[in-house]
Amino acid sequence: MARNLVFILALTSLCIGLAAADWNILNKKLKNGAASRLKNYCESWRINVELNNIKEFEVVPQECVDYIKHYMTSSQYRADSERAIEEVRLYLSSCCTLEGDGKDAWIFDVDDTLLSTIPYFKKHGFGGEKLNATLLESWMEQSKAPALAHTLKLFHEIRDKGVKIFLISSRIETLRSATVDNLINVGYHGWSSLILRGLEDDFMKVQQYKSEARKRLTKEGYRIWGIIGDQWSSVEGLPAAKRTFKLPNSIYYLS
Ligand SMILES: *[C@@H]1O[C@H](CO)[C@@H](O)[C@H](O)[C@H]1NC(C)=O
Repeated sequence: MARNLVFILALTSLCIGLAAADWNILNKKLKNGAASRLKNYCESWRINVELNNIKEFEVVPQECVDYIKHYMTSSQYRADSERAIEEVRLYLSSCCTLEGDGKDAWIFDVDDTLLSTIPYFKKHGFGGEKLNATLLESWMEQSKAPALAHTLKLFHEIRDKGVKIFLISSRIETLRSATVDNLINVGYHGWSSLILRGLEDDFMKVQQYKSEARKRLTKEGYRIWGIIGDQWSSVEGLPAAKRTFKLPNSIYYLS
């Protein structure tokens, strides 16, 4: 008898649950149609940036700035980044026959891979304003960018395997000491080389400059097991790494 009652109660609450869910969906459609269409639009803009279908955007669409700001400061952004890092770990656990001859290499981006520029963008329109290089560089000069905690952990795990770490950044050469200070202050140390953009690289697109840097490494005999970066320009072009990993970033696009 008691068991029947429990069953009936369970069934009743299930029906109420279904009805409530249904009512919610209808309600959303009727009342929040415009808001939910905007959310869908902005999420599909964001995901298409990540898929590299949307290229070379100069600003985040004005109506999506709030959405992107919300995403880039959300636990979802953190979870997405952590998942990417977890996939790197999975790959590293079986990918590579490390030779231990000092020629195994891994490449990291700097901004929004090792260090976060979100504090800067919080103050400067969150992608809704055209990037002002002068302002961004003077912020970088202060060496106050926080680390992305999950990447920091991965950085040391890779280093502890005896893999040489190369940092290839589109930051300009004059930011070298500020960048080194910033990296060390937040816990990075033991990289093999920090490659920054010199005057001679200025005429090149970021993608070409980063390819050229990899070309030099492979000429020196390095085996590039992987790259992790937040920009497609860090992973596209030849020579290719064995695998590449993309972290989310829908605030700016470097080509
Ligand atoms: C960048 O910002 C500075 C300081 O606000 C301003 O003087 C300069 O004109 C800006 N540059 C561009 C290209 O907008």
